[in-house]
Amino acid sequence: MAFKIGLLGLGTVGTGTAEIILNPAGRHSLLKEIAIHRVGVRSLDKPRGIQLPPQAMTTDLEAIVTDPEIDIVVELLGGLEPARSLILKAISAGKHVVTANKAAIARYGDEIYSAANAAGVYVLLEAAVGGGIPVIKPLKQSLGANRIASIIGIVNGTTNYILTQMTTAGADFDEVLAEAQKLGYAEADPTADVDGLDAADKIAILASLGFGGRVKRENVYCEGIRQVSAVDINYADKLGFVIKLLAIAKGSGGYESDTLQLRVHPTLIPKTHPLASINGVFNAILVEGDPLGQVMFFGPGAGAGPTASAVVSDIMNIVGILKSSGKTQFLDPLLTCTHQHYCTI
Ligand code: NDP
Ligand code: HSE
Repeated sequence: MAFKIGLLGLGTVGTGTAEIILNPAGRHSLLKEIAIHRVGVRSLDKPRGIQLPPQAMTTDLEAIVTDPEIDIVVELLGGLEPARSLILKAISAGKHVVTANKAAIARYGDEIYSAANAAGVYVLLEAAVGGGIPVIKPLKQSLGANRIASIIGIVNGTTNYILTQMTTAGADFDEVLAEAQKLGYAEADPTADVDGLDAADKIAILASLGFGGRVKRENVYCEGIRQVSAVDINYADKLGFVIKLLAIAKGSGGYESDTLQLRVHPTLIPKTHPLASINGVFNAILVEGDPLGQVMFFGPGAGAGPTASAVVSDIMNIVGILKSSGKTQFLDPLLTCTHQHYCTI
């Protein structure tokens, strides 16, 4: 029996996702049990870089999330609406959900996870932070014993690509942004990247996981890279620094932190710092905890293939669990967070 996917969105990440599912050769056998049942898009006339049966394509996204044949809804639309409403409708129709939508999760994660826990379905979001880097699952499941002190990351591929090109090739801001858009790194509205909003969404999610509290997205101080000039980069270089857009969450005591600093801004970091050498579209997230010390997650932070790798792995995780236990009840203690505290800057 195949597990049926309803794919919402066939843009950069949706196409990458479909490509993996349609090409299972040489990959885990579970992939052969996953079928794309329906695909929701805005325009049926747009040329697509992938062959899917025309009858699978629709602009009626509501019909997908309520389709009784669909097991897992994969939300790759981006933006807040209709993504939020469709995710909630899919959950109430008993579907498991995989999403890469950090904007929606950072703002509506509480509502979405409450609904998912009540309905006994999974909502997985590995692709939402760090593109192809496994960081959500490790932070939740492999670092749970730690009292987290800080999470500091380069979590936006577009801005890291721009800053890298400005630093190494003296490139012009607008030209490099256009390149990042062409390469599929940037958001549909690239101001979300350039102004630090995307990084702020991501650090809100990571902080919520690492510090065991529902972090309010609006509490993240946010400053983007528009003001960074070639002159700044040159002076930084002469002084032994590089400029990176960092997303920072620092707590005073892990889950029991009274205060939490949450900020995104261009930062001067010494060339010897582990984050200084993260260039191009690569992202890295440096987590410090007790008793672990420091651990760094590193890899491609955006783009079709790396992001689809995380999306499809989430789908396979759900399918694997459904197959092995037949259970659909899933409570996610760290995301559910029973002792809610709203952290201030
Ligand atoms: P794209 O803009 O490339 O694709 C969006 C897709 O969704 C398109 O197929 C579009 O349809 C469809 N769509 C959007 N809004 C609607 C709507 N209202 N009704 C119907 N269809 C709609 O986005 P990406 O693939 O780049 O991003 C998808 C998600 O993944 C976002 O949440 C993004 O933040 C996240 N993400 C992206 C990464 C990347 O590197 N690009 C990395 C990590 C996460 P149509 O094709 O007809 O226009
Ligand atoms: N626009 C985002 C970035 C995509 O550049 O990092 C990955 O989340």
